[in-house]
Amino acid sequence: MTDNKNNPFNKPTDHQIKPRYVDFNISEKSPLYWHGENAFNTHFFNAFFTTFPAGEMFFVRSVQKYRHLINNEELQQDINDFSSQEGNHSHAHDLHGDVLAAQGYSSIARDNKFLDGALKLFNKVMPKFSLAVTIAIEHFTAILSHQVYASPELFVEPIHEDFKPLFLWHAAEEIEHKGVAYDVYQAVDGSYSRRIIAMVLTTITILMLVFVRLAPLLRKDKLLWSGRTWKNGMSFLFGKQGLFTLVVPHYKQFYRRDFHPWDEQDYHFIDQFREEFDSGRFVNNIPTSATSA
Ligand SMILES: [Fe+2]
Ligand SMILES: [Fe+2]
Repeated sequence: MTDNKNNPFNKPTDHQIKPRYVDFNISEKSPLYWHGENAFNTHFFNAFFTTFPAGEMFFVRSVQKYRHLINNEELQQDINDFSSQEGNHSHAHDLHGDVLAAQGYSSIARDNKFLDGALKLFNKVMPKFSLAVTIAIEHFTAILSHQVYASPELFVEPIHEDFKPLFLWHAAEEIEHKGVAYDVYQAVDGSYSRRIIAMVLTTITILMLVFVRLAPLLRKDKLLWSGRTWKNGMSFLFGKQGLFTLVVPHYKQFYRRDFHPWDEQDYHFIDQFREEFDSGRFVNNIPTSATSA
């Protein structure tokens, strides 16, 4: 872990947070089962990713609430870029939710209305704890994104071409901005106990929420009570090569008192994505352009 006056946020030397706008090719004509042609795996990601429109606006509100306490110019700029990236992600996953609605999955829009209202109230009533929850969820998104890039054969190669750019773009930008909310939290007061309580509660809530949102998607496909679907699904998440199993060591780092997101120097994971994006080769036939805050 590097920690010195020239690099107070432990960031990689060539690091920048670059909000990128992309028009995605997903539509109701995209395949229903876009991850490995597998219903459970796809609906797990559908259930999780479609929390982002409400969730990411919650992160932005949580961080913006305290930006007046930040004296560091670099961190102020990072807050701008973080907010732009999360805003773009939120819109992209709104489109994802619209596609699911058009495909007949009506539960997502209803659940999101409730989630958005609950998170706005949470911001108002418990702003400091909201920031602690934000850094906990940002750790989740960072370690899942890390794993996506670390094990492409398990998590990227099975994705249908329509969804692959959305998946890779979001994961890359989550790695890119993973330290911002944490650095704001440290500047606000950095309470260790609040951070740990937030992580424990967030872990339980996220696991419950994903399964509560996943169930209606499987029910619509008449797979909710399919033993085979659940057996394969549990193996995808909790098996030896399962997504959740693989991230456990990285997840546990958060509980260290001296933890910082950039202890894990994984910025090079997204070198190829950055190069492809900057050269306009990221999404076939669609010009890519960067937007800044
Ligand atoms: Fe995001
Ligand atoms: Fe994020």
